[in-house]
Amino acid sequence: MVPPPGNWITAILLAVLVMPAMSIDKNPKSFSYHRFNGTHYSVFTAVGDASINGGALQITPDSVNDNFSLLNKSGRVMFSTPFKLWEKTASSNHTSSDTVASFNSTFLINIFRKENWTGGEGLAFVIAPDLSIPSGSDGGWLGLTNATTDGDPSNQIVAIELDTVKQEFDPDDNHIGLDINSVRSNKTVSLSDLSIEISPASPKNYSVWVQYNGTSKVMDVYMAEEGKAKPTGPVLSEEINLKQYVKQHSYMGFAASTSREVELNCVLAWDLTVENLEEEKKKDRKWVKIGVPVLVLLLVMCGVGLGYYWHKRREAEKPINNNILGSTLKSLPGTPREFRFRDLKKATNNFDEKLKLGQGGFGVVFKGVLPKENLEVAVKKFSREKMKGIDDFLAELSIINRLRHKHLVRLLGWCHKNGTLLLVYEYMPNGSLDNHLFGGEEKTLSWDRRYKILSGVASALHYLHNEYDEKVVHRDLKASNIMLDSNYNARLGDFGLARALENEKTSYAELEGFPGTFGYIAPESLHTGKATRESDVFGFGAVVLEVVCGQRPWTKIQGFHFLVDWVWSLYREGRILEAVDERLGKDYVVEEAEKLLLLGLACSHPIAGERPRAQEIVQITSGSMSAPDVPPFKPAFVWASMPPTGDTNTTADSTPITTSYYGSGWTPQVVSRESYVAHTSNSLV
Ligand SMILES: *[C@@H]1O[C@H](CO)[C@@H](O)[C@H](O)[C@H]1NC(C)=O
Ligand SMILES: *[C@@H]1O[C@H](CO)[C@@H](O)[C@H](O)[C@H]1NC(C)=O
Repeated sequence: MVPPPGNWITAILLAVLVMPAMSIDKNPKSFSYHRFNGTHYSVFTAVGDASINGGALQITPDSVNDNFSLLNKSGRVMFSTPFKLWEKTASSNHTSSDTVASFNSTFLINIFRKENWTGGEGLAFVIAPDLSIPSGSDGGWLGLTNATTDGDPSNQIVAIELDTVKQEFDPDDNHIGLDINSVRSNKTVSLSDLSIEISPASPKNYSVWVQYNGTSKVMDVYMAEEGKAKPTGPVLSEEINLKQYVKQHSYMGFAASTSREVELNCVLAWDLTVENLEEEKKKDRKWVKIGVPVLVLLLVMCGVGLGYYWHKRREAEKPINNNILGSTLKSLPGTPREFRFRDLKKATNNFDEKLKLGQGGFGVVFKGVLPKENLEVAVKKFSREKMKGIDDFLAELSIINRLRHKHLVRLLGWCHKNGTLLLVYEYMPNGSLDNHLFGGEEKTLSWDRRYKILSGVASALHYLHNEYDEKVVHRDLKASNIMLDSNYNARLGDFGLARALENEKTSYAELEGFPGTFGYIAPESLHTGKATRESDVFGFGAVVLEVVCGQRPWTKIQGFHFLVDWVWSLYREGRILEAVDERLGKDYVVEEAEKLLLLGLACSHPIAGERPRAQEIVQITSGSMSAPDVPPFKPAFVWASMPPTGDTNTTADSTPITTSYYGSGWTPQVVSRESYVAHTSNSLV
């Protein structure tokens, strides 16, 4: 017998019974991690300069041999699922009777500093309202707040800081503190008297116990060297009613920062137990007592049916484990969070055409909203046919995920189901640059915005080429790949994917068919089919001219085939400013326009080695260096000046460009954790 299809009441009642049970296991109240690796990106979210690498949550980067890349960093690693921390209660004046969740967070930290490092700034266990990090939270802000937000109650942050730098309001450079919405702690305790040195020059790990009692509303913190038992007395004990400060559903994790004073801020193990306030409410079970046997029978039948249905659905939603792409993705270090297909389908209203943001050579992009996190995202949907070169793709994906820069679009995660690959990115409310330049927008992009956008792209390029541990080339710099956030800051997107999705042999020449790519490609790349830092700079030059002139690179003007040739001729004739977008009228800064046009020409130099490098470009856009010299006639492309391999390391600094990272060593951190971390403890508690 099949349950009567019309029996909705039964179905709904059953749903009520079944659903809470399902939501409990989605909200684990206890976990224990004693060795971290890249697969943990599926449960943790790393933001800012943080990553999960080398067996640790690296709240700020751990690149011991490269002091420069340790400076001025801030990051957070949060458990990606929020916890319900308090109950809403009807107007009670007695805050002591508030229902607040107790929790116990025990973690092992390694705050390493080399002997010649000063040690700074600190690390904190944090309860936060979301998974973001404020910009400018490096230095004394500990990744918790910044100069604007510090002290603002809307931060909804409570943290236990382990501070290694003395600010004017701190007792010393080795203390613990309870922070509420501010790095000016509500209470601090110096650890020096307890012979604890948070950041000792000889490596030492510490266990920290943060225990909160939701009934007495007291937060106790204990601290001891790794392997030692929990001390009998807490180092810090303070009454705090969390309900008054944090969001009902809050995230837990770690924040840290460095400044000119540096240290490694690593968490090596973490046990967390949170009292579960999501407990199934005691059901009003009167309906059972109605005692109509037929109803009971129907319930059972229906239950079996629905159970089977749910089981099937959940099976179908499960990532396909034997699927090569899926499982490889999961095992890759540095891989972002995996989303469920169902959630993304729902977020994009079943990939609704109306939510389509754009279409590129490799897929369609939809806008989506993840209701649980109240997060707007851009979901890029690739089709199976385009999925060539999976290895390359995986390599790129994990690189992209590890890049962190305020002018790069962040990859949030991925999903793979039945040959459909989805990538989830931050949503950029202002769309792409080319839409603003050519999309028939009513309002012309103002000069200030154009300048700011180009400076942003320059700094992203500099980061990719020089600042990230491994050199990265973008390969596909063009206006449609430059996204704009809500403040019209440029954010580079889609890096690396071009080559990854086409197979390796695809030469750039073949890309001619792709609208909008031709004109951004360096002449040498047309020959070699290879992308280099110099070819990225060429693409940047094309974007600069495009933004200043308001014309596509391949626009034919006054008998010239390319925009750049026209601008070059105007320059020769001493009237380069005539190239400026006429839609701007007189609303632009003459010196800046001249400088950018010259920069655009210099970057378009046919000889790769003559183009400025990203570092100089940043200096020019930031004003610390004057406009580059540009020859009056556009030089000819000379093949002989290219090295035979096509690798354009003709410049003095010939750091090889790593174009494939997969298998080429996953740990840029030259010193392995094990060499200074005594051992990863299993004896935390
Ligand atoms: C780090 O920040 C300090 C203080 O703001 C600044 O003087 C310094 O130039 C910065 N260093 C780097 C490498 O960003
Ligand atoms: C502080 O963070 C907020 C939110 O990210 C940001 O809007 C603001 O500009 C930041 N302030 C500083 C000084 O960086």
